[in-house]
Amino acid sequence: MKKILKKFILIIMISWTFCYSVSCTSLNEGANLNDKEIQVSGNTSPEQLLVNEKNVLSKDYEPSNLTIPNIEFADGVSPEEKHIAGVIAKPLEELVRKAKDEGIILLGNSGYRSYKSQEKTLNNRVKEEGKKLAAAYVAKPGSSEHQTGLCIDMTNKDKYFVSGTKEAKWLAKNCYKFGFIIRYPAGKKNITGIEYEPWHIRYVGKTAAKYIYDKRITLEEYLKK
Ligand code: DAL
Ligand code: ZN
Repeated sequence: MKKILKKFILIIMISWTFCYSVSCTSLNEGANLNDKEIQVSGNTSPEQLLVNEKNVLSKDYEPSNLTIPNIEFADGVSPEEKHIAGVIAKPLEELVRKAKDEGIILLGNSGYRSYKSQEKTLNNRVKEEGKKLAAAYVAKPGSSEHQTGLCIDMTNKDKYFVSGTKEAKWLAKNCYKFGFIIRYPAGKKNITGIEYEPWHIRYVGKTAAKYIYDKRITLEEYLKK
């Protein structure tokens, strides 16, 4: 009897491991073959670079000028995630300084993430929250603009950067002045593929940022793609 029970438990464990690995693979396998792989060159301007489910980066794409900005970071941020593309360092530092002048403390939380790191991030979120919730907030490897270094997730001292906090309100109202947009606005998941993320700012330059802010549109709509 004991033997049969042991066998039964072993079969259950093997089946569970198999199912779990298949479900993780299907979510984390990255871009589909049909997706358009973006060709990024030194001439690609920040406002033209659209990364989403349909426009993906190659596995080995890495921005050439990664740098750590002179801002405060939240505790526990990895050295890689402190990096951002060089072009956004000064505007980001100015934004954080201006916020501080106005009594708002913004901390860096996650900037550049390689394809591999995005894979890990997604895997962890799937484990913590399940596939559906993870997919709503974490892009598949290759389709995350964190791989471009042109965006950064900000947070506050409480690590509770949600809609309605003074930090989120300040960022939404002011980031365009420094060339950034709230990349995944509320109510636009049907266009961006991602739920509202008040913390994720993307550099597109001041002209594009003001246009996008004034018209309340997404980068996809701005680029008509
Ligand atoms: N959280 C954003 C969508 C990303 O994972 O790239
Ligand atoms: Zn983000």
